[in-house]
Amino acid sequence: MGVLSSRVGLVLGGARCPARSGRDPRARQYIAVGGVHHGGTTGVARPYTSTIMSTAVAQPDRASPFPAYRGLDDALLAERIDAVRRRMGPRLVILGHHYQQDGVIAHADLHGDSYQLSRSAAERSDCEAIAFCGVHFMAETADILANRPEKVAARDGRRVTVVLPDMAAGCSMADMAAIDQVEDAWADLGTVIDTADVTPVTYINSAASLKAFCGRHGGIVCTSSNARAVLEWAFARTKRVLFFPDQHLGRNTARGMGIPLDAMCVWNPHALSGAGPALGGNTPEHLAASRVILWQGHCSVHAMFRPEHVDAMRANLPGAKVLVHPECAMEVVDKADLAGSTSFIIRQVEAAPPGTTWAIGTELHLVKRLERDHPEQTIRFLSPTICMCATMYRIDLAHLCWSLEHLERGRPVNVIRVDDETARWAVTALERMLAVR
Ligand code: 13P
Ligand code: SF4
Repeated sequence: MGVLSSRVGLVLGGARCPARSGRDPRARQYIAVGGVHHGGTTGVARPYTSTIMSTAVAQPDRASPFPAYRGLDDALLAERIDAVRRRMGPRLVILGHHYQQDGVIAHADLHGDSYQLSRSAAERSDCEAIAFCGVHFMAETADILANRPEKVAARDGRRVTVVLPDMAAGCSMADMAAIDQVEDAWADLGTVIDTADVTPVTYINSAASLKAFCGRHGGIVCTSSNARAVLEWAFARTKRVLFFPDQHLGRNTARGMGIPLDAMCVWNPHALSGAGPALGGNTPEHLAASRVILWQGHCSVHAMFRPEHVDAMRANLPGAKVLVHPECAMEVVDKADLAGSTSFIIRQVEAAPPGTTWAIGTELHLVKRLERDHPEQTIRFLSPTICMCATMYRIDLAHLCWSLEHLERGRPVNVIRVDDETARWAVTALERMLAVR
């Protein structure tokens, strides 16, 4: 069972763009609060038939539309998903991010944080298909890493088919750094500082095109679990870093390395220009004094945790350890006892002795799962309001069953395929990350 049933219609922390709801009748079921997801990293499903699926069981040739699955009972959907997994065996790998609802996580071969999932995709050599239960940028990353040219050559030209069960599962943070804005910013920046002395670093929560931009310009990708090591890598090469798209992860990490706030600035891609370049709303002097230029992006889920929530928890739950994700604002991280990736958060709880009390600031489904799995500890959600990732939540049993049954039939739906030129440069930035220890 998920924290909420897969058919409950209240979703918080990542609103849908109204323009999209007309395309997707399911979107109308949601009351959404939080940031707006414009679907910029979500493409339109392109049916893609792979020859690797030729061993699929005999099924009708025509793709069944998704609405046929929507009314099915969760128990029946789970049974059908299990049946596909049994029939496909090791040919199919299901990857699930920690924020997925419990019913979906139950079917994942591996669940992990963004780093673990991308490493797992990079190491796949034998499977034929990956169903990615996460969001769009994660599936793109899996496609890029699982289908590196040398991997495809070793498989005699066969690609791993990567599917995202619901194409509307995007990431509002990733959408805050569109490639055109990034190219404009780079050109603007070049009018006041030497960009040869700037390493672009992108959080993995970004479109493949931004990862490719970083690859082309000597840059690198990071996740929340290796951001510090990646910034150290970058500063060993250049004086400055341009950090996309999460200003909070960038600021929290740089501060943890001892970089003062006055050596950082925020680049607002919407700043209006007067006579000259807008410079992201900065003066040339401020940019010249900055070692870290933070793109003005954020996670709409983690933005809902506030420093006063930490104060309230400490008052109401004496002795509680406050554990948060570094996508939270600096004011929250500063008041917390510990900050780290989703896997870091899980490890802290798993290693704690019985009787430990926690207030945890990250996506609701993960916190609820920890609460359920660790009854020997007291686990509370840091915010008094529901903070959940509406787009992660779009992956449900109905979409998973729909995508798996089509995969097995050799008529995959929602295939994520990054074009070769973008993948070539994105993999450069991703491989730099995977090489950083
Ligand atoms: P991690 O699991 O890498 O900590 O990422 C959290 C997140 O927000 C994913 O979108
Ligand atoms: Fe994006 Fe935040 Fe959702 Fe992660 S939790 S997928 S960063 S909106």
